[in-house]
Amino acid sequence: MKILFFGDIVGQLGRQALAKILPELKKETRSDLVIVNGDNVAHGQGLTQRAVQEVISAGVDFLTGGDHAFVLKEAIAVLEAKTLPVLRPYNWPGMVPGRGFEIIPCGARRILLVSLIGRVFMRQDFDDPFQKISALLEDYSLKGQEQGSEAVDAILIDFHAEATSEKAALAWFLDGKVSAVLGTHTHVPTADEKILLGGSAFISDLGMVGPVNSVLGAEKENVIKRFLTQRMIKNGVATGAVEINGICLTLDERSGLAQNIERIRKIIDLE
Ligand SMILES: [Fe+2]
Repeated sequence: MKILFFGDIVGQLGRQALAKILPELKKETRSDLVIVNGDNVAHGQGLTQRAVQEVISAGVDFLTGGDHAFVLKEAIAVLEAKTLPVLRPYNWPGMVPGRGFEIIPCGARRILLVSLIGRVFMRQDFDDPFQKISALLEDYSLKGQEQGSEAVDAILIDFHAEATSEKAALAWFLDGKVSAVLGTHTHVPTADEKILLGGSAFISDLGMVGPVNSVLGAEKENVIKRFLTQRMIKNGVATGAVEINGICLTLDERSGLAQNIERIRKIIDLE
């Protein structure tokens, strides 16, 4: 089973870039499923129905969430619509709209996709991701490992977090119980992709699908101004060439554990 998983997709340029490369990439990798982190899919922050629909039309099957899940008013309707394949972080506290995990049908297989968010260096006070995922994995497990729980063919965790230590710790905590723990949020791809001792794939951060000549996807000039003046200066999404960062994950059909994790990095100019 092959899965393409991309990091934070940033704004219209990110959406267009993914639409451009995805048909060929899907053919090339013979992937069964495509997932992307949607934290910055609309205008560089948050969710809109139009942006989500555009990404789905491009060939993406599901979007995971992040800290900007509720930034735009329109996001509530997007997250409440059960027909839209969009998650918000599962460990978001309180009674918030949307869902944090989903069982995705993939041919005859069933894949559990979970969106989690970290707590280190995050402004909000999220619930403990370690405890939340532990409780969820009492209800679902990889086939062959079930102990009174529902069996699935793969378990994919998007861990939207800032600190590499928190991401690595969660990956080792879940090693052998899930197919992969994939970090998102920093927009910077890390070169530490590996298969852990128990068979789960891990990477600290997938990196973004967004403008290359930018500060994490945002217009560099305004971000520099922010640092120089210590004022909150509004910034938009940068323009120009786009970097596409993600991974191609190969999973064992029988165990659902990882066989291979390979980084994808492409830079394309849409002009
Ligand atoms: Fe984020």
